[in-house]
Amino acid sequence: MPVDSLGFVLQTMLAVAVLAAGKGTRMKSALPKVLQPLAGATLVERVLASARTLAPERRILIVGHQAERVEAQLNHLDGLEFVLQQPQNGTGHAVQQLIAPLQSFTGELLVLNGDVPLLRAETIEQLVETHRNSGADVTLLTARLNDPTGYGRVFADDDGRVSAIVEHRDCTEEQRRNTLTNAGIYCFNWSKLLAVLPKLSTDNDQGELYLTDTVSMLERAMHVEVADADEVNGINNRRQLAQCETLLQQRLRDHWMDQGVTFVDPASCTLSESCRFGRDVVIEPQTHLRGVCSIGDNCRLGPGSLLEDSELAENVTVLHSVVRGAKVARDVAVGPFANLRPAADIGEGCRIGNFVEVKKSTLAAGTKVNHLSYIGDAELGTDVNVGAGTITANYDGVNKHRTVIGDRSKTGANSVLVAPVTIGADVTIGAGSTITKDVPNGSLALGRAKQWVKEGWNS
Ligand code: UD1
Ligand code: CA
Repeated sequence: MPVDSLGFVLQTMLAVAVLAAGKGTRMKSALPKVLQPLAGATLVERVLASARTLAPERRILIVGHQAERVEAQLNHLDGLEFVLQQPQNGTGHAVQQLIAPLQSFTGELLVLNGDVPLLRAETIEQLVETHRNSGADVTLLTARLNDPTGYGRVFADDDGRVSAIVEHRDCTEEQRRNTLTNAGIYCFNWSKLLAVLPKLSTDNDQGELYLTDTVSMLERAMHVEVADADEVNGINNRRQLAQCETLLQQRLRDHWMDQGVTFVDPASCTLSESCRFGRDVVIEPQTHLRGVCSIGDNCRLGPGSLLEDSELAENVTVLHSVVRGAKVARDVAVGPFANLRPAADIGEGCRIGNFVEVKKSTLAAGTKVNHLSYIGDAELGTDVNVGAGTITANYDGVNKHRTVIGDRSKTGANSVLVAPVTIGADVTIGAGSTITKDVPNGSLALGRAKQWVKEGWNS
């Protein structure tokens, strides 16, 4: 560890560079590989997040293939620098692009492959620390894999000194039997790397400049083997993407089970990392949570439900339903087969039954919409009873209009409320009515043709 003349430990500067310029040919996708999603976050966002706890002085993303698209996706991240690699001539060429922006930089350069998304922050912290303590020119992360196909092979002695990395496609049969693989995560002494970076050659099967070749050019190269080889899974194709998704989902579910969430059939459910759960939540089979969700104590979700960007208070049940962008207060039952859409705000003790769609509407406590309804752009008071088949006709073909229903009012079956319209409190709407005018408090409103009977018609 470096010390100054008085013996104080010097804090070394750290720059993190993420390689994200490659096309990802093997994905066969219009989307750049590093923007492929995994449990709701892109690969590159995951890689950047794994280095966050290190609080590096510089954070650099090397972009190339569809650079504008990658930049647009990550522009919101504070202090992230973008460096363009054009054309994309290999991982060594990518890091050569740092020579100018890191001209006056001294310290360590942590290089992360943009397609290795399961890495834990602690693993990287450990790598940097080992590197600082050993005084090596480079320390890289390795893994022993049962199937090392496709990965670069690392040749090292028993003391952890690395002599070379040889890419799978450049290996001899003999070399391929080595199962120690390169994870694509390196901590370099920047000034040492700078001395060898310009010397890379394209003398390999792909005719590219390989960052891995710097290892044999540096005097002291060391490696650290990860304990959990799953962390260093690289994603080059859709199968590997699916394997990583499975691993990540398992990690997320295990975490929440440890926090008191029950999964009836864990493998059939998926979560995003931005989901939060209270105690004794039960997640039934085939239930999926995406985006930012917050689920209160004792909720029961599923079977067969999808929740996205929604907030549920305690004791809510959601059965075979879709809940997106909605807020649901405590003790509400949703479904089966309900659709809560963005800005549905459901009050305490409400009931949203089968084939009911609610969009951009507020329902106060105790209100029931039990069967076959559409409630859109509406404000319903407390204890309203919405009869089966009631529809708020909110759209005139050009604009959306509001419907207001006061406390304790009841709409008869098959009512159409043509917005804009205000129904007062304690109102009864007769079944089959088409209501086009406001209805004052306490009234009965009927808006349908009178029944007409001609006796003896068929005799
Ligand atoms: C690389 C390593 C290999 C290691 C593996 C781990 C090299 C030569 N090989 O192989 O030893 O086992 O990762 O996952 O480094 N990229 C650029 N610019 C380029 C090319 C690639 O930024 O010109 C980026 C890609 O976007 C990707 C990363 O670098 O995020 C790795 O590139 P990839 O082509 O996937 O390398 P691998 O063949 O997997
Ligand atoms: Ca790769």
